[in-house]
Parts: sequence; C-alpha cells; structure tokens
Amino acid sequence: KNQNNNMSLTLEEKFVKMQEVRNDLLQFKESPLYEYRIQNKYFPVVGEGSHTAHILFIGEAPGKNEAETGRPFCGKSGKVLDNMLESIKLNRSDVYITNIVKDRPQENRDPTEEEIKLYAPFLDRQIEIIQPQVIATLGRFSMTYIMNLFGLKDQIGAIGELHGKEFVAQTNYGPIAIIPLYHPAVALYDGSNKETILKDFQVLTKYIK
Ligand code: URA
Repeated sequence: KNQNNNMSLTLEEKFVKMQEVRNDLLQFKESPLYEYRIQNKYFPVVGEGSHTAHILFIGEAPGKNEAETGRPFCGKSGKVLDNMLESIKLNRSDVYITNIVKDRPQENRDPTEEEIKLYAPFLDRQIEIIQPQVIATLGRFSMTYIMNLFGLKDQIGAIGELHGKEFVAQTNYGPIAIIPLYHPAVALYDGSNKETILKDFQVLTKYIK
C-alpha cells in the first residue's frame, strides 16, 4: 500500500495529483505575477509530457508564447530544445518538461528569488509525482535550486563550469542523476554555443531506456 512518500503512485494517482498542482496554480493569487497573468489573459505553465518520464527537464520561466498557450518551451527556445531532443532521439512525449517559475515574469526579466521561493513547492510536488531518474536543469536558476534541493550545495558553481556534468543525489525512491545544461536560449544569442549544447545533450543518451 502507498505511503505518504508516494513510493509507488499509479498512473491514475499521478494524474490526479498533477491536476491538483494545476488547480492550485490557477488559484495562486499570492504570486506577484498573478495580476500580470490575469491582465494579459495568460495561463500558468504547469508542464507537459509523460508522468512516468525517466528524464525531467526544468527551465526557468514561461515567455510570452508559453504564457499565451499554457505550454512550456513552445517559442524560439522551444525550437532549440526540440532540436536537442531530436539529436538524441527523444520525443517530447517521452520526457516531462516544466519550469521552476510557472507564470511569465514581466518582459521576460529574470525571476526574483522571492518568485523562485514561491513557485518551488509546485515543482517539488511535480518531482514527487514523476519520480524521475534524471533531472536535467536548463539554465542557472533551476540548476541552483535543484542542486540545493538535493544536497549538492557545496558543488554549485558557474554554469559555464558545471554544464554537461553529472551529479548523483539520493531521493526517497533511490539515486538520481542531476545534469546541469545551458538554457536553450543561449544558442539563440550565440550560435557557436550550439555545438556545446549538442555535446552536453549526448550525456543524456546513457539514461534513455
Ligand atoms: N524559457 C524557459 O525557461 N521556459 C520556457 O518554457 C520557455 C522559455
């Protein structure tokens, strides 16, 4: 029988719990981004993909396209991410993709520490539901949050040093790999980074079942 630590959630239970995350986000009026969401008829971006995914990708925050559709990584950065996934023969439907901050920050500014703190519990719940074997962080905000969360605080450094490296952490359901990756948007600012990002994604291939 299931315990409180969600050791073995059924698909149905995962679905229901993810729906609860979605409902709670829709009602998340405490967020400083809530008014902006309502004024612009935006959606919170919960996440998308398989609830039994082995690999969980965590970006930063929704941009305009994402907030308008409620779907993660569906704009220019999303195109880059799609290319990267394709390069290692992964479909979006095989993985789960979300962000640390679930509402669009004004004019795509960086999320504040306060916003990260406010939204993190939703991400924590999603990790509990999916119980991934691998967490691939996209960009420095989710990298820092996840490394802190999994007891890797001492090893946090500049993303320029940590990208493509593998860290092992323990969870209540077993060991997990944490892999910091550059945010796909960096390939848009500087095309020469694309090779590096492609190479980093190769690290994920050994975890594909
Ligand atoms: N950038 C992100 O970090 N997340 C998205 O969903 C889209 C762009």
